[in-house]
Amino acid sequence: MIRTVRPQSRDRSGNRVRIAPSVLSANFARLADDIAMCEAGGADLIHIDVMDGHFVPNLTFGAKVIETVRRLTKLPLDVHLMVEQPEKYFEDFAAAGATGLTIHVEAAPHLHRQLSRIKELGCAAGVALNPATPVETIGDIVAELDLLLVMTVNPGFGGQEFIAYSPDKVARARSLLDAEGSHAALEVDGGISRRTIAQVYAAGANTFVAGHAIFSARDPQKEIAALRAECGTKV
Ligand code: DX5
Ligand code: ZN
Repeated sequence: MIRTVRPQSRDRSGNRVRIAPSVLSANFARLADDIAMCEAGGADLIHIDVMDGHFVPNLTFGAKVIETVRRLTKLPLDVHLMVEQPEKYFEDFAAAGATGLTIHVEAAPHLHRQLSRIKELGCAAGVALNPATPVETIGDIVAELDLLLVMTVNPGFGGQEFIAYSPDKVARARSLLDAEGSHAALEVDGGISRRTIAQVYAAGANTFVAGHAIFSARDPQKEIAALRAECGTKV
């Protein structure tokens, strides 16, 4: 049964909590149904993980899948590039309908130029940090960011265990954004579940990617609401 859930929770700055199901864990034989279910369940974004087999060991999708998902939903498409030389894909992904492109600082030696190019193409510009990459790395470029993604697992696979020190790192990221007066979204990705989401919400994250927790739930729509509710009640 498809129910419509109205999102309500907000973070400490009054920004709406956003839940971003990751299609990495969806059933690709019924992708249209899975996306419709996320939309009806109140998802705010659809997260699409692009992996190249080099930056991370796994291989996933390219422009064709982004374009397919674009046709299936009106929700913003939050595209996470776990690839080397991400700039090779910006034009194709923007043309395929990506709303935001997030690149890894570890794969982007010319971050300023790369973020500028993403914005020129009309997309929101995001930077992701691997678990071992210090938040201070992006200190000089905070003003350019529309989104900061703090990885809470080592990127490459869905269904991994949340890294325990992540809330402290998210808190440092929140301090950095606030100190610079940045309104960038603060996103977390990896191992987000009912058990872990409140910790990173309390630390200052406001955008939550979840794959396994949503798509392996008996009722994925209810799970989206449950994740959001954890943020509403445990500050
Ligand atoms: C991991 C990806 C994630 C992944 C999260 O490298 O970036 O987006 O789908 O999956 P879960 O929520 O299952 O940890
Ligand atoms: Zn991701």
